[in-house]
Amino acid sequence: MSYNLLKGKRGIIFGALDENSIAWKTAERVHAEGGTFVLTNAPIAMRMGKINELAEKTGSEIIPADATNMEDLNNLVEKSMEILGGKLDFVLHSIGMSVNVRKGRAYTDEKYDWTTKGWDVSALSFHKVCQSLYQADAMNEWGSIVALTYMAAQRTFPDYNDMADNKAYLESVARSFGYFFGKDKKVRVNTISQSPTPTTAGQGVKGFDGFISYAEKMSPLGNATAQDCADYTVSLFSDLTRKVTMQNLFHDGGFSNTGVSQEVIEAFSE
Ligand SMILES: NC(=O)c1ccc[n+]([C@@H]2O[C@H](COP(=O)([O-])OP(=O)(O)OC[C@H]3O[C@@H](n4cnc5c(N)ncnc54)[C@H](O)[C@@H]3O)[C@@H](O)[C@H]2O)c1
Repeated sequence: MSYNLLKGKRGIIFGALDENSIAWKTAERVHAEGGTFVLTNAPIAMRMGKINELAEKTGSEIIPADATNMEDLNNLVEKSMEILGGKLDFVLHSIGMSVNVRKGRAYTDEKYDWTTKGWDVSALSFHKVCQSLYQADAMNEWGSIVALTYMAAQRTFPDYNDMADNKAYLESVARSFGYFFGKDKKVRVNTISQSPTPTTAGQGVKGFDGFISYAEKMSPLGNATAQDCADYTVSLFSDLTRKVTMQNLFHDGGFSNTGVSQEVIEAFSE
């Protein structure tokens, strides 16, 4: 179903790698709601992913940008405004990567140059995106910037490793930049804390299959899917949520406020 919630709105969507990506589903949903956008991803992901397919489907242009590189980001912001014909109304940061997780290095044995790289890609990049948009005065009033996060920022999930620390930093950037963006430009900045979701980044976490089933049983509404996340993101890009800012918004079927569920009790009573 489509409500034309984003008719006439323009934006940038980071992080669509393949059809499982949360950013991919969001791009499709934004397109269905009448929004236009530029797609972007790291140059290396262009070769591995299928972003051209998505661009064709949604009538979008692609501008490669490494989200850790200010030159790439400034070029992306400037070119996007040229292509789309004006300032932007929405931006999705859907980027995450930990070298320690990828290489199976334990939290108690981090290799710190890998930690620094993962932090730059997953957390500091959000500050860089915000700063590039802010300094170029690229956002329209009542625009909306959203980044995706995970509850390991508040509670410990051992296999999430250094990504937990990265997400805590990311959420803090949303609050801090949200203050300045709100005061100076009337722009919202929020994070969505999403259920475990079977994507390339999600499945990179050790024990993901067991964990996603556990979360499903612990969530009264069940896990939020990538499609659900796309719907929620559209609501945050729309004019219906104009006073929501500097928030970390749980989108997890109720998982974050559930102590235990009947299904989990039963599993331990056998
Ligand atoms: N999958 C989950 O379980 C889950 C749960 C909560 C939050 N999230 C978050 O959702 C976001 C999207 O991840 P996803 O699950 O859709 O996985 P995904 O693997 O499809 O997306 C991650 C994206 O980050 C991009 N990326 C990596 N390095 C980059 C760089 N230097 N510059 C620009 N882009 C870069 C990748 O190319 C990829 O497109 C991430 O922030 C992730 O942490 C995922």
